[in-house]
Amino acid sequence: MPSFGGTRAPVYVRPRMSIRRRQFLGWSAAAAVSSAAMKRARAARPPARLTEFPKGFVWGAAAASYQIEGAPAADGKGPSIWDMFCKKPGAIWKDQSGDVACDHYHRWKEDVAIMKSLGLPAYRLSISWPRVIPEGTGAVNAKGLDFYDRLIDELGAAGITPWVTLYHWDLPLALYHRGGWLNRDVGGWFADYATLMAKRLGDRVKHWMPLNEPQVFLGAGLVQGRHAPGDKLRFAEFLLAAHNTLLAHGRAVQALRVTPKLPARIGTAQAGYNYVPATDAAVDLAAAKARYFATADDSYKQNAYWMDPLILGRYPDDAVKLYGASMPAIRAGDMETIKQRLDFIGATLYSADPVRRGKDGKPEVVPWPAGYPITGFEWAVAPSILRLIPTWLHERYKLPIVIVENGLSVRDWVAADGGVHDPDRIDFMARYLRELAAAIAAGVPIEGYFHWSILDNFEWAEGYKHRFGLVLVNYETQARTIKDSGKWYREVIASNGRNVLAVTAPDRRMY
Ligand code: FCB
Repeated sequence: MPSFGGTRAPVYVRPRMSIRRRQFLGWSAAAAVSSAAMKRARAARPPARLTEFPKGFVWGAAAASYQIEGAPAADGKGPSIWDMFCKKPGAIWKDQSGDVACDHYHRWKEDVAIMKSLGLPAYRLSISWPRVIPEGTGAVNAKGLDFYDRLIDELGAAGITPWVTLYHWDLPLALYHRGGWLNRDVGGWFADYATLMAKRLGDRVKHWMPLNEPQVFLGAGLVQGRHAPGDKLRFAEFLLAAHNTLLAHGRAVQALRVTPKLPARIGTAQAGYNYVPATDAAVDLAAAKARYFATADDSYKQNAYWMDPLILGRYPDDAVKLYGASMPAIRAGDMETIKQRLDFIGATLYSADPVRRGKDGKPEVVPWPAGYPITGFEWAVAPSILRLIPTWLHERYKLPIVIVENGLSVRDWVAADGGVHDPDRIDFMARYLRELAAAIAAGVPIEGYFHWSILDNFEWAEGYKHRFGLVLVNYETQARTIKDSGKWYREVIASNGRNVLAVTAPDRRMY
């Protein structure tokens, strides 16, 4: 059983695995840097260890409009591409949809009360664009705006800071019919929407993220066809949509800088391929990092392809070379529009693949060993990404980092004693948070951690197959049950992570 308060003495179980296996798990990339200079430096100065997270560290949890709200046509809301896509037979697991989801549109008060009972200091939510502007442009839906107004007030009254994402994948269907992200005008449409929200909420909302994981909504939605709107376009069209999306980000940041009453803090919510070193050799650490920033193929989650334009104002050279004639036409002023001052890099971090230095000296992605732990989604458990990725992102882009999503899906259920026992989620979080603390101890400015998700919810093409929440939702009765992990997270928050970090010599074996 997990200990909730961190009051019990930590138990140290000596790792029993062989060096080779332990190496493969990449459990200590800090120790992996084995040059003589590093060894001397380490001997001179033992690695700092935190006993708690820095003061002011933001503890949060996240959710997104389409995944929890339901009420797809209530009070004048317009349809989104997800409303359309879910009607397509076979598109979603068991033909489910977000039509009801967690019914958060009607149960928002109860949900905020649950967050308050967990002592949650921050909540990352997203606005449904078609709820507030049913056609995407033009007429505003006052009732839709009122919903978010009330929600933000309720959060404020509960002492919970809202972190608002403007776009978490529910594009107004009317805009899809006008070309969606393929239409360069999307920048103006999105900026107008950002202005509206900043005017309405900007006296109470300070933290904004314009777009959630653009690489995923374009890649899965426009290339692979497994997310809304379900298109299968050519890669060059994806790159065009990506350029328009980057422009839309820039235009929205401009709007968010001038409109709100509170000075905005604006960041990204980027996903990407994540890599960890396959062994503890320094060459493999270097290979994993190089692979992380390389544009190595025509997949859609290349980190630098998205981050370099946003922060450095240019597409990476290797991408321009590799994609050649497929690259979109870049007009004068585009890169200036895309590169806006940002206050933080928000990263969504779940899993990773191991990388080693290949025989040709290039990074080589290798499989996890047989039997390596995976979550319900079959994502490998890779705690060290919470140390490595923020470190690498900060080195390259020099901005503070916020973990805007991290979590796992588990096939949870209510136990016969009425509780929801999810020790695997607690173990996952503890391992990831210890790695995050190690990065902070090493000097990386990491401002916060948002768990995905506060509630079990509609997991896109996977329907309700996956449970990601700290709180279990029964979709028939809408009953909410706080899981053990939710109770444990309450202790993490209350102790500012002391209970996680009290375990001084955790067993790092994963299997
Ligand atoms: C992220 C999405 C989020 C959720 C998690 C599991 O990619 O942003 O909506 O689906 O994955």
